[in-house]
Amino acid sequence: MPAKLAAGNWKMNGTGAALTEIEALQSSHPAPGCDVLICPPATLIARMADMTSGSAIAVGGQDCHAAAGGAHTGDIAATMLTDAGASHVILGHSERRADHGESSADVLAKAVAATEAGLVAIICIGETLEEREAGRTLEVVLGQLEASTPDASSAETVVIAYEPVWAIGTGKVATLEQIAEVHAAIRDALAGRFGDGGDFSILYGGSVKPSNAAEIFGVANVDGALVGGASLKAADFSGIITALEASGG
Ligand code: 13P
Repeated sequence: MPAKLAAGNWKMNGTGAALTEIEALQSSHPAPGCDVLICPPATLIARMADMTSGSAIAVGGQDCHAAAGGAHTGDIAATMLTDAGASHVILGHSERRADHGESSADVLAKAVAATEAGLVAIICIGETLEEREAGRTLEVVLGQLEASTPDASSAETVVIAYEPVWAIGTGKVATLEQIAEVHAAIRDALAGRFGDGGDFSILYGGSVKPSNAAEIFGVANVDGALVGGASLKAADFSGIITALEASGG
């Protein structure tokens, strides 16, 4: 069975004051019935990891460099994330693919570095509106999946996040049919390539909120969510965790 994961991506939001949201989350979900992860800005990882050590909340990075170290100003190596207390790292988010020109080959190299460092790599894939309207959704998503995922991937080291680019931060959620179609195709592709395809966690991301989480988690092959805006406030993220705990999946 895939692990259920509620993952928050804080993106470039939050200073030390935002750590009170983590305290609130620890109070509302001292023993969550699913895996819970927050990926804050890099500046907060160590402090958040200290706060959450021994609790059920895991902490992750939002990117890492493919190299082990060296002259890469502003970048962070995978081993630096583990050293700071991170257990996961988001890779290939569409904002990084768009803003930093990251290709699937770049994401693959980062994923290899991350998994070798002992991090779980959350590999993001998703089509643009233009690609969807051109009928290319599955071709794009499965192409990114194939090219971004290491050959040595397993359900223990890699999580896939399907995030339609047009649904991120827009309030537009993919329909349940659209989510079902893409998640089933991802599951089939993983099963075809890796023996344990059925065990990989496949997350949906894109305008997930407490009000729509339950129906999304009811879709086959949806094992959790990668949440942006609604992960910033404990009250909102808590509602999403509760929906995931309650889901049959
Ligand atoms: P929103 O939940 O704000 O749409 O962001 C989704 C996302 O990009 C998570 O990685």
